[in-house]
Formats: sequence, structure tokens, C-alpha cells
Amino acid sequence: MEKLKKLYEGKAKKIYSTEDDDKIVVEYKDDATAFDGQKKGQITEKGKFNAEISTIFFELLEEHGIPTHLIKQLNEVDVLVKKLEIIPVEVVMRNIAAGSLAERLGLEEGTELDQPVLEFYYKDDDLGDPMINEYHIQTEELAKEEELEVIKELAFEINEVLVEFLTDKDIDLVDFKLEFGVDVTDGKIYLGDEISPDTCRFWDSKTKKKLDKDRFRRDLGEVENAYQEILKRLKS
Ligand code: TMP
Ligand code: ASP
Repeated sequence: MEKLKKLYEGKAKKIYSTEDDDKIVVEYKDDATAFDGQKKGQITEKGKFNAEISTIFFELLEEHGIPTHLIKQLNEVDVLVKKLEIIPVEVVMRNIAAGSLAERLGLEEGTELDQPVLEFYYKDDDLGDPMINEYHIQTEELAKEEELEVIKELAFEINEVLVEFLTDKDIDLVDFKLEFGVDVTDGKIYLGDEISPDTCRFWDSKTKKKLDKDRFRRDLGEVENAYQEILKRLKS
């Protein structure tokens, strides 16, 4: 299926229409941003790595019965997906304290959490994606109550599938961000967006070396190598 018109360009991806109204093409870019776009850069071959990494994760989730937008990867950077109406809530799941949670609760990075912690953020760049709770989601009508129940259930299931898969690859799944959307043709909730080192924290299980976008956010060097290493382990 051909890319037709560019519909939208985000920080890390471009979206194109196709001849089929219900399908779009996601093109993964090498551009990287952090801190609400204040820090900008490029990560060589990131588009290629993330397109493949995300496709591997989405195929794995489909095999475990999780409905996702994935149709198929078309080439190195282009992935054909179902068009969704994205729910403007970023769903963050955490297994180990890091980043904003470590700061908010005063925990040392690396502290194991007794149980997975689910958080919601309002997807709004102008507001800086503030943390919200279920009452905010209801009052702002960001998602229906039934939709939120499905999203919560799917988020915990996804965490279980990913943790089991990654443990076998000697990767700790510290935390990650998900986005869900509704397919207007059937009214059902599907997992959308991407799962990649841009949207997850991955640590080497033994050395605890960071293998994700924190290397870019925190200027740790060896950024490209981290993305490449994740892809290599996923394929091993
Ligand atoms: P945080 O610790 O900065 O809140 O990030 C939690 C997880 O969410 C981490 O794996 C990175 C991911 N994330 C995104 O995918 N997009 C974002 O805009 C932010 C802030 C975090
Ligand atoms: N992608 C987000 C931004 O550019 C933040 C992040 O991933 O750290 O603002």
C-alpha cells in the first residue's frame, strides 16, 4: 500500500494517508526530542531501529491476544496500521522506580516497586503533559468509563507479556508509555502509537546499563548503540 498525503508530522513520526480510509502509514524518523521538545537532536538510524523494534513488540502482543493497530511493516521505516481516534491520555506503567516517579516519591532510581504502578498523563503539549487521574479523565471526557476499564486491563496484561519476553533477553523493563485509540469502524479499543526505546526504559539486567532514550535525554553517549543492542536482543 502506497503513502499518499502527509496528514501529520510529530516529533518522532510522520503519518500518511493511504488509498484505504481506515489505514494509515507511520514513518519513523531519526529526530529525537526531550523535555517537551526543548532538547532536539538526531539519533542515527533511530527510525529504522524503532520501526522494527515496535513491530516486533506489537506482533508479540497480537500473539498474546492484545488488539493492536499493527497491520504490517512495509519497509525499513514505514509501518501500515489501522487508523485510530487516539485517546489523549498517555498510559505509563512502571515496574522499577526511575525518572519522574523516582523524583515524585523520593525513591532511588532502581528501587523495585512492590507491584506495577499505572499512571495517566494528559496528552497536551501546551500544558506539558500533566499527570492526571481517573476523575480528571471523566470530567474532561477524555475517555468513556468502559474504555478506561479496558485500557487499564490491557495495560497490565501488556506489562506481563513484555516483562516475560524481555526477562529472557536479559532486559529489565523499568517503565513504558502506551497510547490507545478507538477504531471508528468497530468502536473497539486498540493499542496504538509505538513501543520502542523512545517510549520505554530498558536496563541490562546484569549491569543495569541504560539501553534507551535516557542516553539521549541525559547525554550519556552511545545512544545509537543502545537502540541497536535492543533490536539485536529482541531478534536473538
Ligand atoms: P517519566 O519517568 O519521565 O515520567 O517517563 C516514564 C516513561 O514514559 C519512560 O519510559 C519514558 C516514557 N515517556 C514517553 O514515552 N514520552 C514522554 O513524553 C515522557 C515524559 C515519557
Ligand atoms: N518525547 C517527549 C518530548 O520531546 C519527551 C521524552 O520522551 O522525554 O517532549
